[in-house]
Amino acid sequence: MASAAAPLVSLEGVTRRFVTRSGTDVTALQEVSLAIERDQFVTVVGPSGCGKTTLLKLVGGIMPPTLGTVRLNGEVLARPSRKVGMVFQRPVLLPWRSVFENVLFPLEMLGWRTAPRKDEARRLIELVGLGGFENALPSELSGGMQQRVSICRALIYEPELLLMDEPFGALDAMTREDLSFELLRIWNEKRKTVMFVTHSITEAVLLADRVIVMTARPGRVVMDVPITLPRPRTPDTEFTAEFKDFAKTIKSAVYAEARGC
Ligand SMILES: Nc1ncnc2c1ncn2[C@@H]1O[C@H](COP(=O)(O)OP(=O)(O)OP(=O)(O)O)[C@@H](O)[C@H]1O
Ligand SMILES: [Mg+2]
Repeated sequence: MASAAAPLVSLEGVTRRFVTRSGTDVTALQEVSLAIERDQFVTVVGPSGCGKTTLLKLVGGIMPPTLGTVRLNGEVLARPSRKVGMVFQRPVLLPWRSVFENVLFPLEMLGWRTAPRKDEARRLIELVGLGGFENALPSELSGGMQQRVSICRALIYEPELLLMDEPFGALDAMTREDLSFELLRIWNEKRKTVMFVTHSITEAVLLADRVIVMTARPGRVVMDVPITLPRPRTPDTEFTAEFKDFAKTIKSAVYAEARGC
């Protein structure tokens, strides 16, 4: 049963196994239990292959767990939910469609009328700093601009939860930092719940209310750190002693895991 008191996302004893093409069993996640409250910005870090993408796919309802349950708003997830938006490492835009048409595309896929959402599409495009590029094609945009379009596309149907899998991983350091602060601004305005996977500990601490550190495969939650740094965060936040303490704690945990795998 859905309940207002239930956390937005909850995982109980979630294990996910895969059988590879050569027939080997791989346990990607093992007995993960986790609750995420509404409006939290949660970042997930851990060694490569520890099951971060798998975790997002389970929460997105793209695949079922082998054992355990994943709930959204207290209801067991059986399929992808319209309450969830996803942004991946690569933007995956339709090359023949303009920025504006790409942003509206998810609504067409859902069979919704796009007319009532056109103003919102323009507003989102403005919000991510792409005003004036509505009619440009993806090939006319930089990687960072394309990723901004995919953020608009994930937000256009007002999902309650935004899942982001290393969304800035393919970008240069400066664009990455710019987009991080832009995302914080959007989050502050829209107040979505966000689960954000990253390999960057700086990014993880800078963005989050809470950082979840996963172990090497099979992935489990080894550390769950509330980040109590004041908001709004700024480019100077990472030079504060408090920030450095958080980063150090998380880095030691991630590196201990990476060496153990
Ligand atoms: N469809 C699949 N079939 C078989 N094995 C899979 C499949 N998807 C993931 N795995 C395995 O599950 C484990 C976890 O993969 P996952 O992609 O979740 O890791 P990750 O933490 O996102 O890694 P990275 O940081 O490199 O992106 C890996 O060992 C991977 O090989
Ligand atoms: Mg991954």
